[in-house]
Amino acid sequence: MNDSEDINSEQSSLTVTDSQEAAVENACRPIRSFVRRQGRMTESQKKAIDDHWAKYSLELKSGLLNPEEIFERTAPTIIEIGFGNGHSLAEMAKKAPEKNFVGIEVHRPGIGSLLIEAREKALSNIRFYCDDAVDVLEHCCGPKSIDGVQLFFPDPWHKRRHHKRRIVKHSFVDLISAKLKPGGYFHMATDWEEYSKYMMDVMLERDDFRNQAGQNNYSPRPDYRPITKFELRGERLGHGVWDLVFVKK
Ligand SMILES: C[S@@+](CC[C@H](N)C(=O)[O-])C[C@H]1O[C@@H](n2cnc3c(N)ncnc32)[C@H](O)[C@@H]1O
Repeated sequence: MNDSEDINSEQSSLTVTDSQEAAVENACRPIRSFVRRQGRMTESQKKAIDDHWAKYSLELKSGLLNPEEIFERTAPTIIEIGFGNGHSLAEMAKKAPEKNFVGIEVHRPGIGSLLIEAREKALSNIRFYCDDAVDVLEHCCGPKSIDGVQLFFPDPWHKRRHHKRRIVKHSFVDLISAKLKPGGYFHMATDWEEYSKYMMDVMLERDDFRNQAGQNNYSPRPDYRPITKFELRGERLGHGVWDLVFVKK
């Protein structure tokens, strides 16, 4: 089995065309933590994208994010990477109107779902990027400008040969470290035990973060984190859940 067929079997929603596209993409670009795919879009997701994209979207090409201008206020800014269908992001934004939420996701149907909920819940404290989070962090987030980064249930890329695609690695944590304010937090959650240990190992090697739960400990799920769609799927498969909350020194 070649690498792109293998990716195909891991992400069952991919089509052959998607995997061919991925192979071409990989030949010309750095290794990404996702495979870009169209996915099926419902009529309501399409409509939400047509009607509300402009109001809620942020553009990589616009450069440095200025939350005060975008949200027209001074408030803590939280970034969520890979928000999936956006349900948990919309829930958090509703529960914490005093905070600004910036979601980053590459999967357009998920963005459609987020826009539907943002309208239904009349949320004004939410925006999104449809781009690679690594690029957004690098080019759009100023140094020491972010109050929290959330990474809930990143793709585990189970197979050893795909581990290079995992988003959590020192270069990624370096970026987060540079963009977080001192006292800001980096919160990861996963339902894949081996990935949780890997996350812990990476964070243990760092002296720029403090584990909120104490050395080597996982955190209980904080009240602010809703149960996500991917987490529910893991639960049905009998997986556990591990939360890791680290504070920037
Ligand atoms: C396993 S899903 C989890 C979704 C959601 N957080 C949940 O718990 O239901 C991971 C999501 O991360 C997105 N993703 C992966 N790498 C990304 C990246 N570099 N930038 C933005 N989104 C990414 C994928 O498109 C996918 O929707």
